[in-house]
Amino acid sequence: MIHYQTAPDKHNLYIMIHDIHPQKTSVVTGTLALSVFTAVLGSLTFGYNIGVINAPQKDYNATWIHRYGEPIPSGTLTSLWSLSVAIFSIGGMLSSFCVGFISEWLGRRKAMLANNLFAFAAGSLMGMSKVCRSFEMMILGRFIIGAYCGLASGLTPMYVGEIAPTSLRGALGTLHQLAIVTGILIAQILGLEMLLGSEDLWPVLLGLTVVPTVLQMGLLPFCPESPRFLYIIRSQEHHAKSLRRLTGRQEVGDMLAEMKEEKRRMDMERKVSILELFRSPLYRQPIVVSILLQLSQQLSGVNAIFYYSTSIFMKAGVQSPVYATIGAGVVNCAFTVVSLFLVERMGRRTLHMLGLAGMCISAIIMTIALALLDSIPWMSYISMLAIFGFVAFFEVGPGPIPWFFVAELFSQGPRPAAMAVAGFSNWTANFIIGMGFQYVADLCGPYVFLIFAVLLLFFLIFTFFRVPETRGKTFDQIAANFNQHSASSMRWKLGLGLAVPGSVRAPQMVCYW
Ligand code: GLC
Repeated sequence: MIHYQTAPDKHNLYIMIHDIHPQKTSVVTGTLALSVFTAVLGSLTFGYNIGVINAPQKDYNATWIHRYGEPIPSGTLTSLWSLSVAIFSIGGMLSSFCVGFISEWLGRRKAMLANNLFAFAAGSLMGMSKVCRSFEMMILGRFIIGAYCGLASGLTPMYVGEIAPTSLRGALGTLHQLAIVTGILIAQILGLEMLLGSEDLWPVLLGLTVVPTVLQMGLLPFCPESPRFLYIIRSQEHHAKSLRRLTGRQEVGDMLAEMKEEKRRMDMERKVSILELFRSPLYRQPIVVSILLQLSQQLSGVNAIFYYSTSIFMKAGVQSPVYATIGAGVVNCAFTVVSLFLVERMGRRTLHMLGLAGMCISAIIMTIALALLDSIPWMSYISMLAIFGFVAFFEVGPGPIPWFFVAELFSQGPRPAAMAVAGFSNWTANFIIGMGFQYVADLCGPYVFLIFAVLLLFFLIFTFFRVPETRGKTFDQIAANFNQHSASSMRWKLGLGLAVPGSVRAPQMVCYW
């Protein structure tokens, strides 16, 4: 309520001016490039640990024989293995919930720096687990690296979103996902039996996770702290220096004015806790959009492909499932690059809907092909193409967009709490798919992807009706749009049904709520 009352006419004029020139040209300075590159090294580690996990399974048996003098019972192997896979997401779930608190306490840059301690601990535990003949070390290592990834999945998009110029926020935000998929692909290739995926070398494969971490620790001291964090949260005046370094401009008065306005509004609000996000009508809509976008990413079923690719390709009648998995990794990377170039042209909403629709159609084709496989052998090609299509459409929208969209939907005050809630939703859904897919697949046979098709259709309809476009808008404008809506819906509920006084709804700022 306070928000809408404090949005004066001057503010609306500001929105309109920006709408006439929404795509101000922005320069990518060396400092900005270095800072984004350094931040997304965390995303690379995240992706690497999604893709790396196929190698050590065989070793659990060897350890068991060494300890107990008999082969591991197959039920125990399955349980230990499922635990090793799933505990990664549990680590992610727990730590993603702390993103808000840690990023406010240490600042964005120091939080990323400190997070690397987790990667070191995890890399050492996993890398040494074979020598120590301990799958407990492996499982603990997976938990800790999951915790690292949970923090990285919140801190990286937050930092990148805050330092990126408005007109490049989507493109630079997509780099988080590009680094994730590159990490997955590197792990898939290095994990080949003839490279590091062999019985002897897999500890090296797992230990390599510390390489991007060392690089990030070396580079972070050269990156500026987020100026928005320094000024709006910490009230430190030297934010202007960071801003000049990032933009390469001496004259940054317009950006400072925008931050000042955001700070003025934030100072008038109470501190936004996670509970407050759901209670306050100002934040309820954006937080529901954020959660649903995260769910659309995970419940699309993409990780069913990435976690169980080998068995899916085998069931689809593909000759060399390992290479087909790498093929999916290449398609994954290629289409993230496509999204990178399209996101500032076509907008987030359109790309997200395109991706969801394409995935839905691919899932239906995949189901038909799998159902007909026994009677028509060449259906294996169709199902492989459908899987590639599924992954390609994922990367056009549902892969990269939800990650940075949350940071866009909230202004500085509620952002950390919102990132924590969104991250937690993402990791919880990731865990559910990781644990549950195999069982559901056994129950439903070739029809399992129809479940995802129905979910995808639901998310498509939701996006059409509820998700606003944020391209080219400042954080303040995006928040103001939601506030305008919540103010007018509140008036509507009060039976007044009047427009917000003095408000001019800018043409591209329509919220489809
Ligand atoms: C996204 C998802 C992650 C998934 C990856 C696949 O980053 O968050 O769970 O494995 O995309 O490319």
